[in-house]
Amino acid sequence: MQICRSVEACRSAVRALKSEKGRVAFVPTMGALHEGHMALVEKAREVGDSVVASLFINPTQFGQASDFETYPRDEERDLAMFEAAGVDAVLIPDVSEIYPEGNETIVETTRLANMLHGIVRPGHFRGVTTVVARLFNIVQPDIAVFGEKDYQQLQVIRRMVRDLHFPVEIFGVPTRRAPDGLALSSRNARLSNESRKAATVLSRALDAATERAKSGQSIAQIRSAIETVIAGEPLAELRGLDIVEAQTLEPLGAQFDRPTAIMLSVEIDGVLLIDQKELYP
Ligand code: PAF
Repeated sequence: MQICRSVEACRSAVRALKSEKGRVAFVPTMGALHEGHMALVEKAREVGDSVVASLFINPTQFGQASDFETYPRDEERDLAMFEAAGVDAVLIPDVSEIYPEGNETIVETTRLANMLHGIVRPGHFRGVTTVVARLFNIVQPDIAVFGEKDYQQLQVIRRMVRDLHFPVEIFGVPTRRAPDGLALSSRNARLSNESRKAATVLSRALDAATERAKSGQSIAQIRSAIETVIAGEPLAELRGLDIVEAQTLEPLGAQFDRPTAIMLSVEIDGVLLIDQKELYP
């Protein structure tokens, strides 16, 4: 596995991979890898002829400098996981390589980035699109793979790729879950034993919503099923519940009559967890 710390080293590794193997699939990450990231690598191996990953904790997508500074970092462990998963090359740039001195260009999806989670995390999605556009221009992949768990992020990236004509095919990968339903996330490590049990409330709430949707109930009834399950868990605080049209994230009417996305954020004992579900009538 090749380790590239500069734009030039990465471009030359990718050129070689393209000529030797064919289509390059790219998996951008911020490290702190877990099985959810490995699912992205597996998908990349399935759809591409070689896999390039990146390990870059992007300062521009953090609201508070302290969150960026305390973000877990373990390069050695992350590289070992990439290597074991069959990644061909990893880009690990310094902040100054991605954001050279005097840089001033940002990329923003003006509507999608500033709604829903974008309202509670101002500037977050602008930071994501700005870094992903730069990474795409450095790696120049044929394919890129993102998790569906960060549902709004996936829609924002799809829109940016479409609007800016990036020649990159985007694949979303379904959320990987623990056997009890909890979506895998690096934040799960911060949960105590008791709050880890309580955290299954997110997937239980989404299961209850799915049941209501299957029986043809309204959007208000689907919403109320989720709120009831969350209210039944004493350690859980509902922080965000958006039920919107899938992909466009536009508001819905009263009836469940079109592809619908549920985006849920719940705080369990000080740890904010998110989960998501797409429902089809
Ligand atoms: O999903 C993430 O880990 C990050 O938002 C991404 C896409 C790697 C951009 O920094």
